[in-house]
Amino acid sequence: MTHAHQSNGQPPGAGGNAAGDALSDAGFETICAHYADDRHGHAGAVVPPIYQVSTFLYRDAEAFERRKQPGDPQCEYTRWKNPTTMALEAKLARLEAGNWARCFASGMGAITAAINACVESGAHVVCVGQCYWPTRRYLSEYLTRFGVRVTFVNGCDPDDFVAAFEPDTRLLYLESPTSGFFEMPPAEPLAAAARQRGITTIFDNSWATPYFQRPLELGCDLVVHSATKFIGGHSDVVAGALIGRDEELGQRLLAESELLGATPDPFAAWLLQRGLRTLAVRMERHQQNGLAVAHFLEEHPRVARVHHPGLASHPQHELARRQLRGYASLFSFELKEQTRAATHRFLNRLKLFGIGVSWGGHESLAVGGTLFSRSSEQELWLIRLHIGLETVDDLISDLRQALEE
Ligand SMILES: Cc1ncc(COP(=O)(O)O)c(C=O)c1O
Repeated sequence: MTHAHQSNGQPPGAGGNAAGDALSDAGFETICAHYADDRHGHAGAVVPPIYQVSTFLYRDAEAFERRKQPGDPQCEYTRWKNPTTMALEAKLARLEAGNWARCFASGMGAITAAINACVESGAHVVCVGQCYWPTRRYLSEYLTRFGVRVTFVNGCDPDDFVAAFEPDTRLLYLESPTSGFFEMPPAEPLAAAARQRGITTIFDNSWATPYFQRPLELGCDLVVHSATKFIGGHSDVVAGALIGRDEELGQRLLAESELLGATPDPFAAWLLQRGLRTLAVRMERHQQNGLAVAHFLEEHPRVARVHHPGLASHPQHELARRQLRGYASLFSFELKEQTRAATHRFLNRLKLFGIGVSWGGHESLAVGGTLFSRSSEQELWLIRLHIGLETVDDLISDLRQALEE
């Protein structure tokens, strides 16, 4: 890998005192706080400035001629490389135990770039049935125009995924947990089965973040993130990230992403760095608040089921305990009264929770709609909650009053 956004590389602007050098054995929180910082390079500023710039000057004509040669640290144009983004990429690669990372203008930018790098015309893809809806649409509507075929597999049985593999399967696309029923297809055996057949595995790790789950260590090849969610953490930035280990794939992705141009604005990269500095403490509190709310709902007489992998009642709870180091705070539940009217009534009574999509920020959110249950093909009214960082008693009080008869 020649680009400087490798985990062990030094981003331009980082002088000899880059904190990354001293952090080979550092823990997760220390990496989040300091990795790839240039401690003395910016007047000692503890927060690096933003390189809010489109183009970079060359020292001379010879330097211009050498541009983009392997090992060339020169930044040329922000669509290709930018020091603010490169420092973020170095940190993300390290956090996900990858060799390189590439950031994007949105999670979908990262997801489509990752998929594009793994398929060609005639290729077949196996994908988890309840993946993020636009990912499903990209595979089943957009890529079919270019001769790519896809099989969606519902549920969590590894045999069903393996049975879906075909001679032309090039890609296994996973989310675990999924963001409807929060089912957990087992990442490790599935990635191993794919690897045996020369199939690349992409894993969307937006829900767990590297703090709770590291898919590359489970055998997956590429990790994608909607960094808009917990990594950003403050609902003020839309961005994506893609992390991997394979050098050849990394080179291809860098070249392709420069071509397709969904690179983030440097300010977005700077905001993500700010989010990462507090990722571990935020995730701990999200976990704590999320579990408290899930337990409250599970006990409530008007609630039929809570879909949260941290509850003992979750069908893959034992797997969740092995695969995850902890639980994020996005989950869903079913009211006993399975009607539009009951769902809308509950949502409209909420005072502290906002009705809104997305998740991972400081604020609690709720949305409701129908989803097909995978086993019975029965349509279910599901309410999805994102539990934010507010006082948990206030959140529970809000839910309690919204559930009143
Ligand atoms: C699981 C998951 N993956 C990916 C995305 C896409 O991310 P973005 O909205 O940043 O493009 C989302 C967005 O909601 C998501 O929920």
